[in-house]
Amino acid sequence: MLDGAKARYTHIAETNNLLAEKSERRVCKRLAILEERDTVASMTSVLLSSQWWRSAVIYQIYPRSFADANGDGMGDLLGIRDRLPELAELGIDAVWLSPFYTSPQRDAGYDVADYCDVDPLFGTLDDFDSMTARAHELDLRVIVDLVPNHSSSDHRWFQEALLAAPGSDERARYIFRDGRGENGELPPNNWDSVFGGRAWTRTEKADGTPGQWYLHLFDSTQPDFDWNNPWVRRQFDDVLRFWLDRGVDGFRVDVAHGMIKADGLPDWAPPVAGGSMGGASTAADAAELATSRAPYWAQDGVHEIYREWRHILDSYDGERILAAEAWVDPVTDMAKWVRPDEMHQAFNFPYLETPWAAEPLRAVIDASISAFSAVEAPSTWVLSNHDVVRHASRLALTAVNPQGHGIGPRSAGLPIPEVGLRRARAATALMLALPGSAYIYQGEELGLPEVIDLPDEAREDPTWFRTSGERYGRDGCRVPIPWEADSPSYGFSPTAAAWLPQPADWAPLARDAQRNVSDSTLTMYMTALALRRAHELGTGELEWLDSGEKTVLALRNGDVLVYANTGDTAVTMPAGEVLLASGTLSNGELTADTTVWLRA
Ligand code: GLC
Repeated sequence: MLDGAKARYTHIAETNNLLAEKSERRVCKRLAILEERDTVASMTSVLLSSQWWRSAVIYQIYPRSFADANGDGMGDLLGIRDRLPELAELGIDAVWLSPFYTSPQRDAGYDVADYCDVDPLFGTLDDFDSMTARAHELDLRVIVDLVPNHSSSDHRWFQEALLAAPGSDERARYIFRDGRGENGELPPNNWDSVFGGRAWTRTEKADGTPGQWYLHLFDSTQPDFDWNNPWVRRQFDDVLRFWLDRGVDGFRVDVAHGMIKADGLPDWAPPVAGGSMGGASTAADAAELATSRAPYWAQDGVHEIYREWRHILDSYDGERILAAEAWVDPVTDMAKWVRPDEMHQAFNFPYLETPWAAEPLRAVIDASISAFSAVEAPSTWVLSNHDVVRHASRLALTAVNPQGHGIGPRSAGLPIPEVGLRRARAATALMLALPGSAYIYQGEELGLPEVIDLPDEAREDPTWFRTSGERYGRDGCRVPIPWEADSPSYGFSPTAAAWLPQPADWAPLARDAQRNVSDSTLTMYMTALALRRAHELGTGELEWLDSGEKTVLALRNGDVLVYANTGDTAVTMPAGEVLLASGTLSNGELTADTTVWLRA
């Protein structure tokens, strides 16, 4: 038995040809330990968990909007804990929680004032432990968000820096500079903030006269750290250890392409149509791309930081992972974040930004698999998160909408909801058939659309304020999710409170209204996830087939055939046993915007 299991493991490793040398050594060590233990049961469980992240489906929880246990209208950790069984039932492998740390919430928690504590809005460290324990009981791994590019301006480290003199050790933690102009009245360079407006704010001296400027790629309440300073690195080593010691299974690393800035902080003019976080470049070729890259995105120096972190993670038992939020184009460059001694995964934003059309989809899938496998990493797939227009709306937009701008009542090219949902379901069915790891953003399993008509006074995204309402920002994808059709705030909270107002027509989208309903979006997700697991699609291999139609993608992954019709007319479908369909099939035809899985 032991030999059989070993052979099976070797076979998986060889077939996928994915194991980095280092990981292989770890696995061997594990096998040796197992031989000592000599129990097949424990061997099986370790084998199953080996390299879990290569094929995992990871569900993003946005704590503010997931579930509120204490009734204040803001989601919290105990709310999450109590809803975890429903996520286990959905069929995911891990959860990633957006920040719940101490924070003045100027950027919804991505402005951290204490990296090692829980904000009272979300609960306590004990609540975190209780939530994590429950997740582990349910075989769900827990990934937390790490926000290392900047802290909150409320953080003690920054407050001390403000009080200290220019040139002091305290100021060296962040990026303080003298201004340009005769009296330093002009910012040190021309950089804009991701959220609009300039990326520098001038300080005031104790006597009230103007002082140095500090850099903030995001809001003025989010000063950037100077990652060239070893002191900063040491603090974050401790932060990593703090959460690893508490049992987390990994970190999603915020702005993982922004922590090092080009020497001399040179001026730079961003492309007008670019997304707010970089990526989605309009450059014609690699050479143009290199020169058109912002001096604060994707600088080579970031990689050294991740190599150090990888050492720390590897010194812990289990397989703890790092996942990069790095908006980097092209995907061959993004793959640098996941070289064998760096992070495990990087969010595939080029995939997320691809329109619902067969040709570009095939190109980005090919480019992703080839770029990531060249560095022995799995590709990831993602369609929605808390920073982008939900894909049930985005895929039906008819006007350009750069990432971060969001949509609202006055936006051009607003989606037709039915088209959006149809495409979103088809896009998800395609995504979940691909080999690699997939991310799901809370509420997409319910088919939630972007909330377009939020009242202006309810909006909280700093983008909205920093652009004086010119960009709506990201609130529309962050509305608390509906659990129960007939409860106040749709079961999000025991009271009717919700920090962003929920649309009046969401009752049919509530989880309990979709559960066990054969054609609901929730059922489609659950079926797809169960099939994905049963047919081992996450560790499979993709082979393109000729669909005979320009608008139809056709592929095989193991014993599953997938046809995705991105066009607006029905096409003839091959015969076969239907395992999953994202929409209604009629008379042997694959309808517009529909994906089907057939048994090969
Ligand atoms: C990341 C987060 C986003 C946040 C920004 C600044 O992009 O996903 O929500 O506003 O970083 O921390």
